Amino acid sequence: MSGVNEIRSAFLDYFAKNGHDVVPSSPLVPRNDPTLMFTNAGMVPFKNVFTGLEKRDYVRATSSQKCVRAGGKHNDLDNVGYTARHHTFFEMLGNFSFGDYFKEHAIELAWNLITKEYGLPAEKLLVTVYSEDDEAFKIWKKLTGFADEKIIRIPTSDNFWAMGDTGPCGPCSEIFYDHGEHIWGGPPGSPDEDGDRFIEIWNLVFMQYEQLADERVNLPRPSIDTGMGLERFAAIMQGVHNNYEIDLFKALIANSEHLTGVEAQGKAQASHRVIADHFRSMAFLIADGVLPSNEGRGYVLRRIMRRAMRHANLLGANEPIIYKMLPTLVREMGQAFPELHRAEKLIEETVQLEEKRFIKTLERGLGLLDDATGSLGAGDQLDGETAFKLYDTYGFPLDLTQDALRNREIAVDTEGFNTAMERQRAEARAAWSGSGDAATDTIWFSIKEKAGATEFLGYETEKAEGIVLNLVKDGAEVAGLKQGEEGFLILNQTPFYGESGGQVGDCGTMKGENGSIRVTNTQKKADGLFIHAVLVESGEVKVEDALELVVEHDRRSAIRSNHSATHLVHEALREVLGTHVAQKGSFVTPERLRFDFSHPKPLSGDEAAQVEALANEVILQNTPVETSLMEVDEAIEAGAMALFGEKYGDEVRVVSMGTATRGEKAGKAYSVELCGGTHVKRTGDIGLVTVVSEGAVAAGVRRIEALTGSEARKYLADQDALMRETAGILKVSAHDVPARVTSLLEERKKLERELAEAKKKLAMGGGEAGSESGSVEAGKFKLMARVLEGINPKDLKSVADEGKTALGSGVVVLISKAEDGKAAIVVGVTKDQSEVVSAVDLVRVGSAALGGRGGGGRPDMAQAGGPDADKADEAIEAIKAHLEGL
Ligand code: ALA
Repeated sequence: MSGVNEIRSAFLDYFAKNGHDVVPSSPLVPRNDPTLMFTNAGMVPFKNVFTGLEKRDYVRATSSQKCVRAGGKHNDLDNVGYTARHHTFFEMLGNFSFGDYFKEHAIELAWNLITKEYGLPAEKLLVTVYSEDDEAFKIWKKLTGFADEKIIRIPTSDNFWAMGDTGPCGPCSEIFYDHGEHIWGGPPGSPDEDGDRFIEIWNLVFMQYEQLADERVNLPRPSIDTGMGLERFAAIMQGVHNNYEIDLFKALIANSEHLTGVEAQGKAQASHRVIADHFRSMAFLIADGVLPSNEGRGYVLRRIMRRAMRHANLLGANEPIIYKMLPTLVREMGQAFPELHRAEKLIEETVQLEEKRFIKTLERGLGLLDDATGSLGAGDQLDGETAFKLYDTYGFPLDLTQDALRNREIAVDTEGFNTAMERQRAEARAAWSGSGDAATDTIWFSIKEKAGATEFLGYETEKAEGIVLNLVKDGAEVAGLKQGEEGFLILNQTPFYGESGGQVGDCGTMKGENGSIRVTNTQKKADGLFIHAVLVESGEVKVEDALELVVEHDRRSAIRSNHSATHLVHEALREVLGTHVAQKGSFVTPERLRFDFSHPKPLSGDEAAQVEALANEVILQNTPVETSLMEVDEAIEAGAMALFGEKYGDEVRVVSMGTATRGEKAGKAYSVELCGGTHVKRTGDIGLVTVVSEGAVAAGVRRIEALTGSEARKYLADQDALMRETAGILKVSAHDVPARVTSLLEERKKLERELAEAKKKLAMGGGEAGSESGSVEAGKFKLMARVLEGINPKDLKSVADEGKTALGSGVVVLISKAEDGKAAIVVGVTKDQSEVVSAVDLVRVGSAALGGRGGGGRPDMAQAGGPDADKADEAIEAIKAHLEGL
């Protein structure tokens, strides 16, 4: 039993047999501790269980925890490759008791495992205890029968383990392995203890206290935390002295030898080791959701990646090779860590992309470095300006430059580097604070400078912890907010999505020791600062408080569905209407999605139905939604459509969904978009999409609105109920409703026509329209005048025409009385008379009598109105008098 995988299984099996729950490794990004950059010990995921804050349904656990020690407090990055036992990524085997067994049993369990199961000879082992811990000393003595010199009392912090400045802690006892006299070094506590002869293999921590900011308190119950580095233990089991010579690293290094064509000998050895170590960090960090960036965890990852890439370059590689090591890693570790399988594609693409990008500037940067250091020798310093130029222009993290000069014993002026960095920031600030709208946001910019960009955890989780970095009230920074107060809150990291790319910000709650907070909105300011609009519901919140952050799950789920559906609707529109369809804007809320796009005319009902059907087809495929990082050009080549109004850096997130089943894209992703939003895991999570409206927003721009999931279902159920109600009223089946409504409308039109005719007839005295009867003499003219009720003024002209025909020659005056008491008047003059008297003049006379003014038309037909229909007779009289006067 000596392979890494066997050692791990044996450890977990042994503790399972002894009543421990085997707990899978937690992610490298700690969910329960906002002060930690990466999980760096086996006990990190259990921190709150030790302190009693969290309860689990077991009191004994065992795990093999992934750990990263790079960046933050524990940073081993600089040593990797040059020492036998430093790693950026390693596994920590451990057993834990949460108030169950304590010292004695912990020591027994460890001793039995090491000497019996793993079979290490007792004479090769020795142990340490904290100098005041007589109890541990006696237990060891009884169990091992060791001479006193082999149970060494250590008075220093070496044997008092603490997670960090705060957190669970306690005295510890360590087990050491003696590699033998042929290797230089002394036992722990001796002047030569730093030598390599005696190697610590297991640390048993007797967790008894919790270190708070200003005092040390007892834990609710004494507990146990242990940690054994898998790689160093494997080295002992495999009889090698260097961790990089164990089976796992041999496989990785053989792979990098193969890929570079350079043997791991002499100077090349360190480079191979760096590559193998760093590749494990990269792969596991990416699998846990960290992607290379210029801030926070993403930047630590980038530093690790670029450091490895420089070493690949030292081995002569001038094209991407590191990503090709993934199959080896998956073979060696994939069984124990299924996340490697799950994220295989993402890891491969992300590493390859970073390699491609960096290779472009690496050679030139190294050239600059050579020129700048050509005349320097051991003990000299590279100036800060050059180091900054390498950072800023060539993408060289500071530690890469330091690493590159390490062999020549040239240091870097880090102060000068920082000054150059600060100068650049000041310039950016000056340029920025001068411009328009942005100037009103000065406060966010200055906070961003102090606090840095907020780390967004919301792609991976809806719950996390964060530390309050700043609070803002009424446009100014404050130290705290009290119950009932509103303001803005900035954290070091957050799962809350800040409004951007058309997706609204998240809401939810935050809880600290001293208060509860409601988050009413989240926005993104000053290029990466997430500001949470908050209301303190009870207690208070202060800068530096640690808060538990919870995004409102249902709301976020609905937003995710609507956002993913927007991508599908977009692609479906292109498929149905053509590729001229381009996104002009979008707005995604929990209730609905809105999508604006270029298209010259309204969508027909058929087209809308097709769009809906295509999008739903992809939803039913229920395939995983995939996200990767790409360069913009590459993404566009892969078929990504750019988002409206987004500004891109060089790298972009690309979201792909579904599988195309037709056309050129058949077999490839259905929808590929550049997008920073949050999305469903599988297309089926959307449930259903239904288009509820379509309209115009501007010339050539249409807007579609749609619903998904339960909102869509409710909407369709309402539609169905309405249809059933309508069918009930019409007394037909739903299927026959359209035909029934069409025939009712036709019938109604016909009836309206008949009614108008009848009214006209009635108006003209009941006889044939236009009988001559009832005309009088008015001077030289024949005058037919009527006051009509219940006739539409629109129809007056046609009635007047009929009157003119009946009269043959003369003047027709029609006045209609409306229900509101107003009058409409139409005067018709037959052709032969219209040169003698103009209908326009006559209608004006009539209108004046009706209390109106004006009127218009042609000499043979004119119309006007007046407010006073009761004066109809006077109006006729006035016209008659006018005619008589001619
Ligand atoms: N937590 C202890 C360590 O990291 C076991 O050494």
